[in-house]
Amino acid sequence: MDIVLTGKKAMVGGSTRGLGKAVAMQLAECGAEVTLLARNEEKLKAAVADLPVPAGQKHGFLAADFSDFDSFQRVVSGYFANRGTDILVNNTHGPAAGGVTEKSIADYQAAFDTLFKTVVFLTSAALPSMQKNGFGRIINISSLSIRQPIPHLALSNIIRPAVSAWAKSLSSEVARYGITVNNILTGYFDTERINEIYSGQALKLGITLEEHKARMARDVPARRFGKPEEYGYLAAFLASEQAAYITGANIPIDGGLTKGNL
Ligand SMILES: NC(=O)c1ccc[n+]([C@@H]2O[C@H](COP(=O)([O-])OP(=O)(O)OC[C@H]3O[C@@H](n4cnc5c(N)ncnc54)[C@H](OP(=O)(O)O)[C@@H]3O)[C@@H](O)[C@H]2O)c1
Repeated sequence: MDIVLTGKKAMVGGSTRGLGKAVAMQLAECGAEVTLLARNEEKLKAAVADLPVPAGQKHGFLAADFSDFDSFQRVVSGYFANRGTDILVNNTHGPAAGGVTEKSIADYQAAFDTLFKTVVFLTSAALPSMQKNGFGRIINISSLSIRQPIPHLALSNIIRPAVSAWAKSLSSEVARYGITVNNILTGYFDTERINEIYSGQALKLGITLEEHKARMARDVPARRFGKPEEYGYLAAFLASEQAAYITGANIPIDGGLTKGNL
């Protein structure tokens, strides 16, 4: 089976590095014309230059800040006023770590604005062209925290399930237009952010980053972290014509880390 996305337009959030960039690379590799979305113009330009062009596509970028909802709305509305997209990958930076009792109402509001409001707004801006074209793929980068709360990540545990619930309701409303909406439940992936977070933890534990990651990997049945390119393969499949009958789903990619049968 070949995944061919030639002629499709894709927008990928949080895509100058990490999982978002890996997804963008794979969509581009399959022929899609990709628009990267993140806040730093210099990093965006550099990331666009890295994207493959097997079909001679012209990739681009949109600079917007997920942490400033008012300006985010303005930038996104301006972009979609005269353009559409076929594939939308909703991905933002993760919320700050910490337990429930450490978080203030302002922290919950900020996490809701970043993780939920930007995703709902961006999707509503992208839907009209998908409905018109009778094709759309909305892929939300989420976490296994929606099924299994992760210690010390209260904001992810609490806000991400709202995105899944929203996606489920949306999927049933737009399926008739050939639009699918799915959530990817992310396990441990070897990204720059994870290395930054784990370096701090390793320092506190008095061990090296590599030792810390090796200990974490022992909890994963596959005994390793995921590779960002493996993430890209799943996203490219969900974006394809072949995945037309998969919608409203929470799909884990975690080497078996999530416990439980459902
Ligand atoms: N990696 C994992 O193992 C893992 C596990 C579970 C869940 N996740 C979730 O998956 C998502 C991606 O993770 P990752 O490890 O790839 O993250 P990452 O390496 O930190 O990448 C985040 C991306 O978002 C952009 N970004 C950061 N702040 C932004 C802002 N205010 N406005 C616009 N763009 C912003 C960054 O680019 P600029 O700085 O250039 O703007 C970057 O491209 C996160 O939500 C994370 O919580 C990851």
